[in-house]
Amino acid sequence: MLQQKKILVGITGSIAAYKSISLVRLLIKAGAEVRVVMTPAAREFASPLTLATLSKHPVLAGLAEGDNWTNHVELGRWADIMIMAPLSCNTMAKMAHGLCDNLLLAVYLSATCPVLVAPAMDEDMWHHPSTRHNLDRLRSYGHEVIPVGTGELASGLFGEGRMAEPEEIVAYLQHYFNRNKELSGRKALVTAGPTYEPIDPVRFIGNHSSGKMGIAIAEELLRRGAEVTLVLGPVNQSVPAGINTIRVQTAQQMFEACDSHFNETDIAVMAAAVADYTPVTPAKEKIKKGADEQLDLHLRRTTDILKSLGERKRKGQVLVGFALETKDARNYALGKLTSKNADLIVMNTLADEGAGFGTDTNKVTFFTAGGEEITFALKQKTEVAGDITDQITKLLYA
Ligand code: CTP
Repeated sequence: MLQQKKILVGITGSIAAYKSISLVRLLIKAGAEVRVVMTPAAREFASPLTLATLSKHPVLAGLAEGDNWTNHVELGRWADIMIMAPLSCNTMAKMAHGLCDNLLLAVYLSATCPVLVAPAMDEDMWHHPSTRHNLDRLRSYGHEVIPVGTGELASGLFGEGRMAEPEEIVAYLQHYFNRNKELSGRKALVTAGPTYEPIDPVRFIGNHSSGKMGIAIAEELLRRGAEVTLVLGPVNQSVPAGINTIRVQTAQQMFEACDSHFNETDIAVMAAAVADYTPVTPAKEKIKKGADEQLDLHLRRTTDILKSLGERKRKGQVLVGFALETKDARNYALGKLTSKNADLIVMNTLADEGAGFGTDTNKVTFFTAGGEEITFALKQKTEVAGDITDQITKLLYA
């Protein structure tokens, strides 16, 4: 998929620059043409000789090489895509503000191609308000940010800020070139999986949701160009690179994650099977068997996430909910459409074989706020995700 794609790799001064060597090697292996431009500081972290050998082209760093001025405009026009990996805090700030004190920044400012960035920094720098502002600025220029990973950082601390792995960046690029861009520039929020409500430190109330349907929707939205945040309950499914995944356990945590992302979201799809009730006070210690034959658990209602988002939905935001029913499916689904102020309810019923939890297939009916009712045949969940995304796109651009 990267065959003959012209990829300009910008490397900045960060410990993660050592990963750029693997990145260049993987891109070449995938058939891409690669040119590398480094900041002067980056040369301390990764050898230009190694990068030149792998990319089969000289690695550029200075605004002039010997007596020759380097034509930064030509490089920026040559590329199909420019990727800054790793993007340090310093270069991010310079990009956000249009500074131009080295060749890489000159190439960046002259580039006519799309730009992707893979930031790398320590967690505190990553969360600093100025970094947040700079990232928002880069996004407002249309650049895409490849989510950072969580793990051990150069400081020895553990946290958010690791550059995405080279394999993830290559997968992201493949997605990038593959996808149909109708949702480009749109932000989507998806919930998936079950929630676990703690009874005591070893037990919980949960359900059989596998998360497959929600993950398939998140992947489809990404493929069509949306920037996707997935709030994922406790499941063992892997999530494709390029999706910003927030892993949660409880309904309350899922609510908090959605609550904080909803304002900036264009599309919200609530595909999670959220517990409606949670133990009032989870026991601090493991509950021991008593003499009584019965044990009463006191439960309280959780926040209905879909409903709470429906109450504050703005014009232009598309809100999608699911209804998994065992009887009277149509009536309940229509009830949820109005009571939760959703734009679309995707109904499935456990009465249909191959539909519901755990399977790779699903059979759904759509109910839209505009009064449409569309029933589909049994399909792979990935295809259902395509139908749902088609409907979302219609609603978004209606
Ligand atoms: N939902 C939610 N938050 C909850 C419960 C449900 O966001 N606390 C969302 C689900 O993700 C789904 C929709 O609401 O999109 C419907 O969920 P469902 O469990 O079918 O319906 P409920 O509203 O919980 O009603 P009931 O359980 O009585 O059918």
